[in-house]
Amino acid sequence: METKRSSFSGRIGFVLAAAGSAVGLGNIWRFPYLAAQYGGGIFLLVYILLSVTFGFSLMVAEIAIGRKTQKSPIDAFRALDKRFSFVGWLATIVPIIILPYYSVIGGWVTKYFVGFITGSAGDMANPNFGGTDVSYFGDYISSTESFFDLAEPMLWFFLFIGLTAVVVLLGVNKGVEKVSKFMMPALVVLIVFIVIYVLCTMDGALDGVVYYIKPDFSKFSVKTVVAAMGQLFYSMSLAMGIMITFGSYTKKDVSIEKSTKQIELFDTGIAFLAGLMIIPAVYAFSNGDEAALASKGPGLMFEALPRVFESMPLGWLIGAIFFIMVFFAALTSARSLMETIVAVFMDKLKLGRKTSCFLVLGISLVLGACSSLGYSAWGMVKILGLQFLDFFDFISNSFIMPIVALCTAIFVGFFLKPKTLVEEVELNGKFKFRVLFETVIKFVAPVCLVIILVSSVAGALGINLGFLNFLIV
Ligand code: PHE
Repeated sequence: METKRSSFSGRIGFVLAAAGSAVGLGNIWRFPYLAAQYGGGIFLLVYILLSVTFGFSLMVAEIAIGRKTQKSPIDAFRALDKRFSFVGWLATIVPIIILPYYSVIGGWVTKYFVGFITGSAGDMANPNFGGTDVSYFGDYISSTESFFDLAEPMLWFFLFIGLTAVVVLLGVNKGVEKVSKFMMPALVVLIVFIVIYVLCTMDGALDGVVYYIKPDFSKFSVKTVVAAMGQLFYSMSLAMGIMITFGSYTKKDVSIEKSTKQIELFDTGIAFLAGLMIIPAVYAFSNGDEAALASKGPGLMFEALPRVFESMPLGWLIGAIFFIMVFFAALTSARSLMETIVAVFMDKLKLGRKTSCFLVLGISLVLGACSSLGYSAWGMVKILGLQFLDFFDFISNSFIMPIVALCTAIFVGFFLKPKTLVEEVELNGKFKFRVLFETVIKFVAPVCLVIILVSSVAGALGINLGFLNFLIV
């Protein structure tokens, strides 16, 4: 892998490829429901602050490590300092955990696209499906009534991960890239259109905008920071070796600082717009009931948007277009997750590309099936009090990724020394935010990450921290 390292054509090529991997379900599905859950404006504020400080510094560090070493994450850490190669290994575990449950959600998206073109738009918009107090989405993911009900979410998941594997196996990256180059801007335009529609036609939506944008400091807690930090890792594909890999494909004449800023702007911009599309609409549907909004969780997008589309002329078509675009955003992200794992398996287990791919597919099918069934037939199985999907989400975002980020920060801050990476960045001119980078990597990041880890571990294991209990998530 190291010998034939391809590279991007230039900064724009690099930024587009990295943004293609970064923009996905994290922005459109995960960000809005977390923002709704953790107090709207305060979550948005914390997220943006973290993104311009912490996210910026970590992304610069990862890209610079990749470009300096021109190696994959495991080898990159080993080349820089043998004692830290475990960080590369740990980072590699993250995509292995995320890909399966990411694909389960990709399956939900696929199902909704097909639902819109096959005339189920009305059903999907029904918050009281079949006259019950369960929504269509709730019924869809949790019903155990018949074998088909139980199997359906799994079939869509199989389809999604199968397609991802086909893309990886056939190496049809060029084709997918072409489609997503067009899809991404089109998705932004469509989201802006939906935002305008919601704000102009729904009573109460503007109050929802206030809820989403205006920080209410009384809602601030350590939980807000932990959730925002986890989301930052997830959405910007940080702390999982991905940006190191991207960095390794980057030529020396590409400005790391500028690229990082653009990727962040892109990623955060789309997340912000997705929140603006979903939160005010749900706020309006629930007549301003903030508690109801906060309790929606992962179903938020799937419950809210069909109701918005239902109220639009030709809503079924717009819904179908929206979900097919989200499908492509999810597919490019899933492909990037799968590629990373396949590359490591090829390198480290000395397997061929096909065998690696099938191995990844096999592991993903098992873990993904657990996530899918965890919402239905296996609802009683709980790990640390969480269903499978939530557990995989928690263990990657709130546990392993903070550890990887902490180790990276300590490694760069105190062993490699920030200067080494600053020199790499300065190959393309002055590093404008150097002081910010050095301070965050050396001091701010380690302190915040330790707090986050203590908080999530103590919360998950029910450990009593005495006077520090306010830290617990
Ligand atoms: N960042 C992607 C998202 O927001 C998820 C992802 C993580 C994709 C890692 C690729 C690699 O959906």
